[in-house]
Amino acid sequence: MTHILSAVAWPYANGPRHIGHVAGFGVPSDVFSRHMRMAGHDVLMVSGTDEHGTPILVQAEQEGVTPQELADRYNRVIVEDLTSLGLSYDLFTRTTTRNHYAVVQEMFRTVHRNGYMVEKSTMGAISPSTGRTLPDRFIEGTCPICGYDGARGDQCDNCGNQLDPIDLKNPRSRINGETPKFVESNHFFLDLPAFVDALSLWLEGRKGWRPNVLNFSRNLLDDVRPRAMTRDIDWGIPVPLEGWEDNPSKRLYVWFDAVIGYLSSSIEWARRRDTPEAWRDWWTNPDARSYYFMGKDNITFHSQIWPAELLAYDGGGTKGGQPGAYGSLQLPTEVVSSEFLNVEGQKFSSSRGVVIYVRDMLARYQPDAFRYYVAAAGPESQDVDFTWDSFLRRTNDELVAGWGNLVNRTASMVHKNFGQVPTPGETADVDKAVLATTGDAFAKVGSLIEANRQRAAIAEAMRVVGEVNRYVSETEPWKLKTDPERLATVLHTTTQAVSDCNTLLSPFLPHSAQSVHEVLGGTGEFAPQPVIQEVTDLDDDSRHYPVITGGHDGGYRFPAWASVPVVPGTQIGKPSPVFTKLDDSIVDEELERLREKA
Ligand code: MF3
Ligand code: ZN
Repeated sequence: MTHILSAVAWPYANGPRHIGHVAGFGVPSDVFSRHMRMAGHDVLMVSGTDEHGTPILVQAEQEGVTPQELADRYNRVIVEDLTSLGLSYDLFTRTTTRNHYAVVQEMFRTVHRNGYMVEKSTMGAISPSTGRTLPDRFIEGTCPICGYDGARGDQCDNCGNQLDPIDLKNPRSRINGETPKFVESNHFFLDLPAFVDALSLWLEGRKGWRPNVLNFSRNLLDDVRPRAMTRDIDWGIPVPLEGWEDNPSKRLYVWFDAVIGYLSSSIEWARRRDTPEAWRDWWTNPDARSYYFMGKDNITFHSQIWPAELLAYDGGGTKGGQPGAYGSLQLPTEVVSSEFLNVEGQKFSSSRGVVIYVRDMLARYQPDAFRYYVAAAGPESQDVDFTWDSFLRRTNDELVAGWGNLVNRTASMVHKNFGQVPTPGETADVDKAVLATTGDAFAKVGSLIEANRQRAAIAEAMRVVGEVNRYVSETEPWKLKTDPERLATVLHTTTQAVSDCNTLLSPFLPHSAQSVHEVLGGTGEFAPQPVIQEVTDLDDDSRHYPVITGGHDGGYRFPAWASVPVVPGTQIGKPSPVFTKLDDSIVDEELERLREKA
């Protein structure tokens, strides 16, 4: 039994999430967490909405509300969508809690005290017409390195170099085209070069990462520069230092605070269950493991910025130092990054209408049909294209015809012939063989999930489903009316095999796993689902918000990752189908919906 931190990327609360987002961080983290709990580990799965920074400010302006109102609005939408998808967070919170502010400020103060926050004067851009700060990515101009004319203030997309807005030739505002004015401004820079050795050492010791993620992370160490961790912006967490704290236009950089959410949400979780120190088992315990789930655009922040923040807090850079009140915090075990999901050959873009929102997907299709698609065909190690045609085929040919049909015909035959799970007679080799196949699959599928090879894992589980289907075709129970003992043995074996397959598939398909459990006469909770709870901020009675959490007081209770013997005599009723077969017409309907939005 190991303490496993399942740290899931925090979606921005600037709009509803689309299926590309949850294919990257959502389904993979949930499959992993569910499996690890079933395998007996102590999993803490945390996340929340990311509510600071320019993405929130810009959208608030567009919708004519305050940033907090905007964040409140989309925090709730996102909480509802992720719950409907069955993502089993122990706590899904947000970055505007007082607890998060306090934890972030404790981190900043300690990093600063250890000497890793260096104050420097820089030239920052402001808009001459409004007098307001222009965030880096709202400035455009000619790249000083490659001459590309569409470079942004933070980066040139043509040559990939990181830039400062002041470097751009012919800079202009992307909002109204005016030429920005540059004024002097003081900022705190995280001294990343002080951690190059420690980060290299850490990366050298990483095993089992997806090669593209590890290579990308290693390459980041080739050009490491100090990075500003404060911004000229009025929305964010105040800089907890005298002379800065009360300055309304200086705030911590959104990425400095967001990654600390993993720690602050663990602390909030512990405080909410009245074991305020319990988070330490996942954070200061060298035997604990931590897995971070995200899309590839987040790798830099998780394999460089966040480990550097942790090292800085611990005093683990070239300048030394002492850990703060939280003690020595552990670096990530693995950064599990997905690639991108595209849609019908195009990149997702809410502004261009190339988008399928999670809410729309779940309004029309079963959550497990979508989860199946992501697990079986998602962007695990390369970009993939979501098409409605492939969704239809995966759902109908694999989920409905392969698995759903096996469940249905098994339960129907048992119901019709016995009304209950029959007592088996003597078993034949073919019976033993199929149960050996399902039994052996626990180790195989389990180790593939543990290695975050979920496509291979679900393919293996579905191969086993195919073997069980073949067993039924070969033993032909419908021809055994005259041999009741053999019939009982075959149907008992089939029921056992289906039950095993259901356990193997439950991390991927938790909604239908619960239904299949009940079809087979099971009672009680088999594949626990998250619930939404309305809570009060732990440090401010006037603030209320929804969180996602486990159903019970003590959290989720998962069944074991093992074959559990089916019990003869268990009543089995007439089953109704667990999965809905999709009509071919959905493809054209959905393509038409996409065209309407564009
Ligand atoms: N909000 C970021 C995004 O959507 C992800 C933040 S992950 C965190 O890309 F860990 F930093 F919170
Ligand atoms: Zn360039």
